[in-house]
Amino acid sequence: MPPEQTMRALVHAGTPGPDGLRILNVPTPKPAADEVLIKVLAAGLNRHELFVINSHDDDQPRIVGADAVGTVCTTGADADPDVVGHTVLINPCLGWDNTEDVPEVPTILGGPIQGTFAEYVCVPARNVHAIPQHLSLAEAAALPLAALTAYRALFTQGHVKSGDHVVITGATGGAGVIALAMAAAVGAEVTVITRHTSKAAQAKAIGAAHVVAGTNDFHTELHAPADVVLDSVGADTFAAAVSSVRPGGRVVSFGATSTPDVDLSLRDLFFRQISIQGTSMGSAPEFEKMIEFVTRHRIAPIVHAVCPLEKAPDAFRDMAVGSGFGKTVFTIGDGQLAR
Ligand SMILES: NC(=O)c1ccc[n+]([C@@H]2O[C@H](COP(=O)([O-])OP(=O)(O)OC[C@H]3O[C@@H](n4cnc5c(N)ncnc54)[C@H](OP(=O)(O)O)[C@@H]3O)[C@@H](O)[C@H]2O)c1
Repeated sequence: MPPEQTMRALVHAGTPGPDGLRILNVPTPKPAADEVLIKVLAAGLNRHELFVINSHDDDQPRIVGADAVGTVCTTGADADPDVVGHTVLINPCLGWDNTEDVPEVPTILGGPIQGTFAEYVCVPARNVHAIPQHLSLAEAAALPLAALTAYRALFTQGHVKSGDHVVITGATGGAGVIALAMAAAVGAEVTVITRHTSKAAQAKAIGAAHVVAGTNDFHTELHAPADVVLDSVGADTFAAAVSSVRPGGRVVSFGATSTPDVDLSLRDLFFRQISIQGTSMGSAPEFEKMIEFVTRHRIAPIVHAVCPLEKAPDAFRDMAVGSGFGKTVFTIGDGQLAR
């Protein structure tokens, strides 16, 4: 069935933060020549969307959302029509074809290109992928951005291998949980850092060997120095992250959930010969490697809530305080997510 002229979408405008979110009817997008039009079935929430709506203070409507699974309805003139009818997952990182050609800032669906929290979204045909058989549709909708970021952070940038001691801050959030599962899958010994003691058991159930809870000075409580620290919390944890690594170790930074500005003594770097490595999302080849990796190790994101898009403002508020474990997924349409 061809799509209607208008579609329902979660639109942000006017008031920064979740109070500016509304479900509205907006024009249905049309695919460019190299694009496909996808009817979105489910879309995972990332903190990226919270950052975007918190800093969006004008009346220009924005549709956020990076992750999604959905069914291809139509294709542009140059896209392979054989994908029509396939249910696929989306790589939300656009135009990064070679891993070595690191972009100034990776382009992401939903910022400012129209995102996935809508009935339909257009994406380049090369950004759609088959869904791994072991994943439910909700899990697949929670996978793309978090898993791509975690994969590049751990393996391309962090060089994590079996036997490494890997410390992960923010490890109970969307990106942190999948990073924990991936690191454990290659035989790393993972220490999870969380503000909440109540999240420790769940972290251990998905592969954490150790949990340090309730302190930003976690470096004093580690059983051993880290080979690699993955940090996404930023200012609240960065000093402890640097203090946690062994001489010659590495801190990989991919976020700043608290705030981004940190004080750092260069002596802490040069005497102990520590590397600090930034990373953001990942390239198209890394997305394919990530899919292959989660398929081989049968890794699935942890989905703590599945709710209709209408509940999005509450889900954004919950995310702001970090109350969940893993990912929230929005259903779009009739809410049926059977494969
Ligand atoms: N550069 C990239 O490509 C990229 C991609 C994905 C994510 N990121 C960044 O990585 C970070 C995590 O993203 P996410 O989607 O996984 O977020 P998330 O699901 O909200 O998880 C963040 C976790 O950080 C912990 N946390 C520590 N301090 C916090 C604070 N002050 N406020 C709220 N939570 C705090 C919380 O765990 P506890 O409650 O257990 O402490 C929370 O579960 C974000 O900064 C995001 O922008 C970057």
